[in-house]
Amino acid sequence: MCGIIGYLGYREAYPILINGLKKLEYRGYDSSGIAIFCKNGYRLYKSKGKVNELKKKIFSPHKIKGTTGIGHTRWATHGIPDDVNAHPHVSNSNELILIHNGIIENYHAIKIILLKNGFTFKSKTDTEVLVNLIEYIQKKNKLSLEEAVRISLTEIVGAYSIAVVEKSHPERIVIAKLGSPLALGINEREFFIASDPIPFLDYTKNVLYLKDGEMAILSKNKELDLRKILDNHKLSPIIKELQINLKEIEKGEYKYFMLKEIYEQPRTILDTLRGRLSITDGFICINGIEFNKDIFVNAKCITIVACGTSWHASLIGEYLLEELTRIPVEVEYASEFRYRNPILEKEDIVIVISQSGETADTLAALNLAKKKGAFVFGICNVVGSSIARNVDAGAYTHAGPEIGVASTKAFTAQITVLVLLALKIGKERLSITESRYNSLCQELRSIPEKVNKTLKIDEDSIKEISKIYSNVNNFLYLGRGINFPVALEGALKLKEISYIHAEGYPAAEMKHGPIALIDENMPVVIIATKKGCYEKIIGNIQEIKARKGKIIAIVNEGDIQASMLADHVIKVPNISEELSPLVTVIPLQLLAYQIAFIRGENIDQPRNLAKSVTVE
Ligand code: M6R
Repeated sequence: MCGIIGYLGYREAYPILINGLKKLEYRGYDSSGIAIFCKNGYRLYKSKGKVNELKKKIFSPHKIKGTTGIGHTRWATHGIPDDVNAHPHVSNSNELILIHNGIIENYHAIKIILLKNGFTFKSKTDTEVLVNLIEYIQKKNKLSLEEAVRISLTEIVGAYSIAVVEKSHPERIVIAKLGSPLALGINEREFFIASDPIPFLDYTKNVLYLKDGEMAILSKNKELDLRKILDNHKLSPIIKELQINLKEIEKGEYKYFMLKEIYEQPRTILDTLRGRLSITDGFICINGIEFNKDIFVNAKCITIVACGTSWHASLIGEYLLEELTRIPVEVEYASEFRYRNPILEKEDIVIVISQSGETADTLAALNLAKKKGAFVFGICNVVGSSIARNVDAGAYTHAGPEIGVASTKAFTAQITVLVLLALKIGKERLSITESRYNSLCQELRSIPEKVNKTLKIDEDSIKEISKIYSNVNNFLYLGRGINFPVALEGALKLKEISYIHAEGYPAAEMKHGPIALIDENMPVVIIATKKGCYEKIIGNIQEIKARKGKIIAIVNEGDIQASMLADHVIKVPNISEELSPLVTVIPLQLLAYQIAFIRGENIDQPRNLAKSVTVE
């Protein structure tokens, strides 16, 4: 987590940094800080809390002059969120100033050595250790900044993207990357540094993504100097031109990005299908599969690895792939998978799913799977992200930038890709009949329209329900089959943005424990769509009703039985079971949003969270 930013060129750095930090706040908002450099030294500002708190501390921003600067927005790992632990961090001699995203795992051992050598520390951070290590190595060996940074990094265990400036040489910034993302925007006579390219898109679309183990020396009026950290080998930069529509990263008429992203889903699902599902003949084309057809057709086992919402999409993927391809599928939390020596054979496929493409655990799981010889297929939203760059093949979800911390449109886009994948492989393996394939393709085309309809029919009833339950302390979410992961996702959405405790369960598991929680104060959201165990779900509703629980049922249009039993009903269009999560999740996203809105929470930036979890 954490967002880093930097500028070196001919413009005033302050507005670029402060506006850029706002755009990076999704990566963490515990504290922020900037350092602006000029010939006579530098000015450093740090503040606990969001970037607006930092701005409040800067009384005369127009007086902050300097064309070199670095900034940081923090998601706290080592040390509480306060002014002292905020970045940038300064070395003991006041000569080196550094920002860092990542974790230095061996910081404690290094700190002890530095303490023995007379260094002192103001903060509790691992970053202050790193900046002093660089200073120690530089002074001891009389090295240039870049050489001191390079050698220091070879002593580091952990993950980082860093930018370092030397007070006496503000015409130069040294940057380096391992594990955490780092994008470099390049224009004539200027460089932009950021954790993702969004902060500098107003200035340039030419971007270089540093790879793990690379560093660069950025100097005013000089060519970019890209090197390998390990052996200082000079590298040729590969600069790409980004294709991005700036409108996608604005809120427009919406109060929060989350709401905008929920309402974008009819279009984003269409974008995910575009060019992949032929309107006329139901032909599915995904290049990542097309070029590796044999691997998919002959796969013995598929393991899907992800975190959070992407893990919920993976569970839906398990259902779809097993049902339509008859290949056994396992779903793993990336954080568990990476540390438990998983059994993988050469013919196995590992699918990694990640919106950001930067989640540290998912990235580590990917690397482990590759090391073990598995074929790794990625499903990512962020183009050019670390995961996207490291997989053997993959498919982008094309949902566009997702800014709200709570993932919504990325989830439905991931499911859409998984449906396409399952249908495609199923057809190639002849594990699905022609007629089932054709009818699912046909229905898939109608999904954007059905999602649109769901968004419209549900809006008012969800607002009413939200008013009634916005003050409760607990919620239960129940579903069965392919809609069980949707229940998990609904509970996660509510938890993360409204801070109400919520749990998702397979409906039938309720009697093995959670039923003890049910009384007249417990709202239970239950997905009771017609296809898939409807009668059993009705039984579960009866059980809740008998214990006076309040039932909010997600039902199909025309439903009678569940609707008669429920306290509140939310209707979604009729659809096959395989595709149902694409519509059943919509009211759950809206319910979480409306409840959080009524409670007055900061929906796009919930406490303690960050959009990209780049630390494990
Ligand atoms: O970028 P990723 O999909 O890898 O992120 C995984 C999770 O961190 C993410 O889905 C998280 O759970 C969201 N905040 C959920 O809304």
